[in-house]
Amino acid sequence: MENTGVTVIEHLLLHQKQSPMATGQFTRLLTELIFAAKIISREVNKAGLVDILGLTGDINVQGEQVRKLDDFANRVLIYRMQQAGILCAMASEENADIIEVPDNRPRGDYLLVFDPLDGSSNIDVNVNIGTIFSIMKKTSDRNYVTLEDFLQGGSSQIAAGYFIYGPSTIMVYTTGQGVDGFTLDPSVGEFLLSHPSIKMPEQGKVYSVNESYSCYWDEKVKATVDYFKSPENDRGKPYTARYIGSLVADFHRNLFYGGIFMYPADKKDPAKPHGKLRLLCEAAPLAFIAEQAGGAATDGKGRIMDIKPTALHQRVPLFIGSKKDVEKATHIMSGV
Ligand code: AHG
Ligand code: MN
Ligand code: MN
Repeated sequence: MENTGVTVIEHLLLHQKQSPMATGQFTRLLTELIFAAKIISREVNKAGLVDILGLTGDINVQGEQVRKLDDFANRVLIYRMQQAGILCAMASEENADIIEVPDNRPRGDYLLVFDPLDGSSNIDVNVNIGTIFSIMKKTSDRNYVTLEDFLQGGSSQIAAGYFIYGPSTIMVYTTGQGVDGFTLDPSVGEFLLSHPSIKMPEQGKVYSVNESYSCYWDEKVKATVDYFKSPENDRGKPYTARYIGSLVADFHRNLFYGGIFMYPADKKDPAKPHGKLRLLCEAAPLAFIAEQAGGAATDGKGRIMDIKPTALHQRVPLFIGSKKDVEKATHIMSGV
């Protein structure tokens, strides 16, 4: 039987009744976000056929080369979300500063932070990539937004999620009432509920880290990774190594199969003393999802969700995945 079931918006409306926080504005926000993701998905599917692969020639605020699809996804999200009338401002991995809603457009109370295309180094070789998003509410009653409004801890997120563009396009999101997954049925253009109430296995079999940087790690990180490779660990055999280089794809696999993804601080690398991943647009939204699915996320010292950001593009070490595996990593890194 084909999945003729519940669309993501129907699902949201059902849940909206139960959540005092959810409003018609929030439904509108998600509807617009989904529409933008469908456009990105369509373009990703055409990669190779149209001139959308390769670099733009620009370097972004992260010091990274911008690819044409990064730029396309960023522009689609900014344009659609500025038109929608439910945001007061946005922040993107690709933009140095916050992005305001133009004066001639209506504004709402929500803030959106996103990584328009995650895993961009995989774009040109047809490997999974994604869009990660985090939704917060403006806390001040000013009618304008400043950087301060965005520097909220992960626990303040109203919703978070991602779209993964792979063999199928899947949306996974949480509003703090568990995690659900929806698969895009391209024939009707709707995301249909395909993975209700996702629960991450308590302990996994996979460790996921870019081990070529071990020369930059401190002893505690080395001991942590060694633990997962050791036949004498709690499993009694080494974990399997899997590293795609798209955070969203590595996270998605571990969400279902269990395991731990690590991007530690490369302490001895002057370029990445705090790791590579961005707190606001990568670590915090995925931490919200991980916790809601029964998993955990830490920077090696404490919950990612408890970190109060001090900068828009702040980077953090990230250890995320199955609860027991993340606890084990934290335990080893705390030197106990
Ligand atoms: P982005 O494509 O948004 O810049 O993110 C890339 C990130 C993340 O997706 C991935 O886990 C990590 O970079 C890979 O980095 P390394 O190549 O250093 O392992
Ligand atoms: Mn990214
Ligand atoms: Mn990106």
